[in-house]
Amino acid sequence: MKPGYSLMRHYLQFKDFRAEEYAYLFERARVIKQRFKNYEKYQPLTDRTLAMIFEKASTRTRVSFEAGMYQMGGSVVHLTTGDSQLGRSEPIEDSARVISRMVDLVMIRTFEQSKIERFAAHSRVPVINGLTNEFHPCQILADLLTYLEHRAPLNAQGYDLGSLKGKVVAWVGDGNNMANTWLQAAEILGFTVHVSTPSGYEVDPAVAGVRDTSCYRVFKNPLDACRGAHLVTTDVWTSMGYEAENEARIKAFADWCVDAEMMAVAQPDALFMHCLPAHRGEEVTAEVIDGPQSVVWDEAENRMHVQKALMEYLLLGRIG
Ligand code: CP
Ligand code: NVA
Repeated sequence: MKPGYSLMRHYLQFKDFRAEEYAYLFERARVIKQRFKNYEKYQPLTDRTLAMIFEKASTRTRVSFEAGMYQMGGSVVHLTTGDSQLGRSEPIEDSARVISRMVDLVMIRTFEQSKIERFAAHSRVPVINGLTNEFHPCQILADLLTYLEHRAPLNAQGYDLGSLKGKVVAWVGDGNNMANTWLQAAEILGFTVHVSTPSGYEVDPAVAGVRDTSCYRVFKNPLDACRGAHLVTTDVWTSMGYEAENEARIKAFADWCVDAEMMAVAQPDALFMHCLPAHRGEEVTAEVIDGPQSVVWDEAENRMHVQKALMEYLLLGRIG
């Protein structure tokens, strides 16, 4: 183990961290973002290397981790299934043993959650989930930072996470990796998710890994899910890996398009978020995603700031 690791942690799902750690991370993200905006050099990860393994496509995850690591003084190695032995059936455990002897940190985007767990179990260094079929914790980190920036009071300790208690997030669409992660965040941070999915695409609390099902409520009609919501959010109808179901999904999800009517029944100052990439005219209208309540570009940018805080935390622990 390299100097600097006292306790190795992985970040494989949102519930891997406690509320108090999130308060710390969001404050670090705020400070790190401020430095970036002021063109102040901040390179605590000099000589550290991040391996990024992509078994699915990506724009935001790749750019945010890669740019973030370079900005912090480190470097990155980019691997895909197609250009590594991962695509030629080398066991994931062997890949983990080898890669983690050469780098300081690994980010993986893959299919089953069990795959990243197997990798982590054989890794000498921290592993970050960059999206699996079940979870997308880095995205929810960015979404929460964005919500806090826009809506939470800022005090001496940072954004007031307590202000999330009692808030309502409306999830309109597929009971997918994003929905599962929202549920975990709600359980830890004390807000409620109003979930509306077509039948057959519901969230499964066992897959989401939530113990307390009072962190979410299910609505048949997406309009009812949006009523009174502080944040309305959605995602693609067909996630990566489910392309064979695309035709059936287009039919099933036709009424799960976030539109002006849904935004009108939410709180007057409700925000709209989408992890992107978006399909205007499918899960959201152009009017909503390009409208005044949408914060999707801040949300995308915040991937980088919050992941810089995450990498710093996993590699160096608490600063100061
Ligand atoms: N939101 C997100 O993870 O985007 P990419 O698929 O482009 O990485
Ligand atoms: N649910 C989507 C998110 C993409 C960032 C997917 O898994 O493809």
